[in-house]
Amino acid sequence: MDWMERERKFILQTYTRQKVVIERGEGCYVYDVDGKKYLDLVAGIATVSIGHCNPKLIERLKNQLEKLIHASNLYYTTPQIELAEKLHEITGMDKFFFCNSGTEAVEAALKFARRATGRKKFVSFTDDFHGRTMGALSVTHKEKFRKPFEPLISPVEFVEFNNIEDLEKRVDGETAAVIIELIHGEAGVYPAEREFVKALDELREKHGFLLIVDEVQTGFGRTGKWFAKEIYGLEPDMMSMAKAMGSGVPIGCCALKEDVAEKIQAGDHGSTFGGNPLACTAALATIDVIEKEKLVENSVRVGDYFAKRLREYFENVVGVGLMIGFDVSDAVGFVRKCLENGLLVNNTSENRIRLVPPLIITEKEVDEAIEIMTN
Ligand SMILES: Cc1ncc(COP(=O)(O)O)c(C=O)c1O
Repeated sequence: MDWMERERKFILQTYTRQKVVIERGEGCYVYDVDGKKYLDLVAGIATVSIGHCNPKLIERLKNQLEKLIHASNLYYTTPQIELAEKLHEITGMDKFFFCNSGTEAVEAALKFARRATGRKKFVSFTDDFHGRTMGALSVTHKEKFRKPFEPLISPVEFVEFNNIEDLEKRVDGETAAVIIELIHGEAGVYPAEREFVKALDELREKHGFLLIVDEVQTGFGRTGKWFAKEIYGLEPDMMSMAKAMGSGVPIGCCALKEDVAEKIQAGDHGSTFGGNPLACTAALATIDVIEKEKLVENSVRVGDYFAKRLREYFENVVGVGLMIGFDVSDAVGFVRKCLENGLLVNNTSENRIRLVPPLIITEKEVDEAIEIMTN
């Protein structure tokens, strides 16, 4: 029996997988069980930002493995405290709650918003994706994901993305929080317009709701800034982070401003694994590599080059750093053909391709990818 048959036998069939069994990775490449090499422009969906099996990450993790893997939040552990200090420095946020995934980070933000404001209503946007647990799903727009699981958390209203008039109608003094993906990732890389974000910020001032920026996909250098909020000069009340934070080691975080944080009480939320020493060490190592190897700058430079090369062949190329989307006529076929030819790419719809490669990618690897895509 091969791996794919074995998978079907005992793994719940919630995923539609590409026909490849990945065994190992190095830098921007992964290898399947037969030793075939693939250039990876998916990076675990915007996650393996410092490259597969980064030696600096491995070294730090090995040291931590031999020291302490887990202790619980019943106690203080040093990597968690060091990580919070580092995150304060790079995010400008004041307090941090650690969890294990993006959806959990959103979940925490929604709870904290209700707790801090005493209000109930959430507002999100058409095509926003925030995760698949019940709270995060409640503010995720796609009908296909939501419908089978209703009733979800309410009240939630969806505003048409980039429509200021619609936004003005739907937020009010009852709104606990507005949650936004500043650059839609799962929908295929579509950024919010500056005017729209400015209007949102002004409405926050007027109505006193909290603004949650979901940086799960856009965070840690992906967009050519440390965080997408910097592109818009925005200071959110809370931020959700995960994915690239641990370069593949599961970790998530909800960051809060002090005036929200001070309304949260002991026992309001918690997690067995959240802030675990191993995961926090992975995040510390990841941030260190991003800083030392100037990967935010690389995201701008190589991202611009990638988008420019793609525009020679494809329509509707949108590139924000190394978060890139473009149209093809048959995205499913395109992904399959790339895979056959040693390239991992991902489609977000029938005709949209999204590229979120490791931030260490070079112009030479971009050329290699373009060659495969266009042959
Ligand atoms: C913007 C955004 N928020 C939340 C999530 C959920 O993250 P996770 O899959 O780690 O639960 C995702 C995942 O794709 C995402 O892109």
